[in-house]
Amino acid sequence: MAPKSPFEAVDGSPLPGLIGNSTAMTEVYRMTRMAARSHASVLLLGETGTGKELIAGALHQLSDRESGPFVRVNCGALTESLLASELFGHVKGSFTDAVKDRTGRFEAAHGGSIFLDEINSTSSTLQVKLLRVLQEREFERVGDTKTVSVDVRVIAASNCDLAKTVAEGDFREDLLWRLNVLPINLPPLRKRTGDVELLARHFLEIYNRKNQASVKSIAPDAMAALNDYNWPGNVRELQNYVERAVVLAQGDVLESYLLPSAVTGDRAAAASAVFRPSDEESLVSEFVFNRISKVEENTDDLYKQIVAPVERELLVQVMENCNHTQTKAAQLLGINRNTLYKKLQECGLSKSSKGDDS
Ligand SMILES: Nc1ncnc2c1ncn2[C@@H]1O[C@H](COP(=O)(O)OP(=O)(O)O)[C@@H](O)[C@H]1O
Ligand SMILES: [Mg+2]
Repeated sequence: MAPKSPFEAVDGSPLPGLIGNSTAMTEVYRMTRMAARSHASVLLLGETGTGKELIAGALHQLSDRESGPFVRVNCGALTESLLASELFGHVKGSFTDAVKDRTGRFEAAHGGSIFLDEINSTSSTLQVKLLRVLQEREFERVGDTKTVSVDVRVIAASNCDLAKTVAEGDFREDLLWRLNVLPINLPPLRKRTGDVELLARHFLEIYNRKNQASVKSIAPDAMAALNDYNWPGNVRELQNYVERAVVLAQGDVLESYLLPSAVTGDRAAAASAVFRPSDEESLVSEFVFNRISKVEENTDDLYKQIVAPVERELLVQVMENCNHTQTKAAQLLGINRNTLYKKLQECGLSKSSKGDDS
């Protein structure tokens, strides 16, 4: 009998830190374990929130570079020139703000892996440089003539169809082929039969702990609604809704009224995704509405109750984006470093941050 999967002999159990045992994910776990044995470039493809970053981390952990650094760069978050300097470093004076020499993230990842997230948003100039790094493992710092060689494993991710981007002329075909040695397709959550429930329970546990809450179970109609929903924002969206439900819950059951109307309400409307995380306005207004409807009648700190969790989440995400470097985060936020430091302390976020750039 022919094997169902070409890699059936490879362990298909969930990777450390990943939840879900659907057939679609089993294939992902197998591919990741296979890829971890090699040094080839890996391309992670999947909609936003499907776990590309999580897989990239697991892949590094499983590889023989595990004791080396794992460096993540979000190529979509920086302008072209900042990204070039971020990736390759620069020498003093190569542009206005280059007040001293700086090593880039490729050098920082030497001996380990670099995760190039949102690779589809790189400019054509940068794509040329990336192609050279992939082929020769060498580059020059911005403004320098000296060639630097690195030993780095490249893991790239894209949430759009790169073949289409190539056809539209926005991505170099040769770079795609270089990256595409080992492609791993992350299935959307709506195609992972059985995983929604496992993930919902997993996040329930996490947010109970985080909020010192004890929402022990999920009401059957709430679970049915979660299973039926089409999850345009995938696991991240589910995580979001479970967190919100735990924060808002009064009793020990996650009832369906705690879920957004797109999940529980009109299924046809949900299918056309009237409410999705990218719909900023409806997300914000629903969040505020939900919180206002839950505050005590004669509260005197409504402002703080609504704004504080938003501020905290902003800090968490920016710090993560800046690799926990406060100087950079303060710059990005446009506030001074002392203010940032104070805010991080107020939100109980000060432990994991680095004091300064190095
Ligand atoms: N299979 C999974 N098990 C547990 N958590 C997951 C899983 N997939 C994604 N997540 C969580 O969902 C969120 C989004 O995942 P991420 O890796 O950032 O997705 P992507 O990079 O594809 O946008 C993260 O908080 C991540 O920890
Ligand atoms: Mg991501």
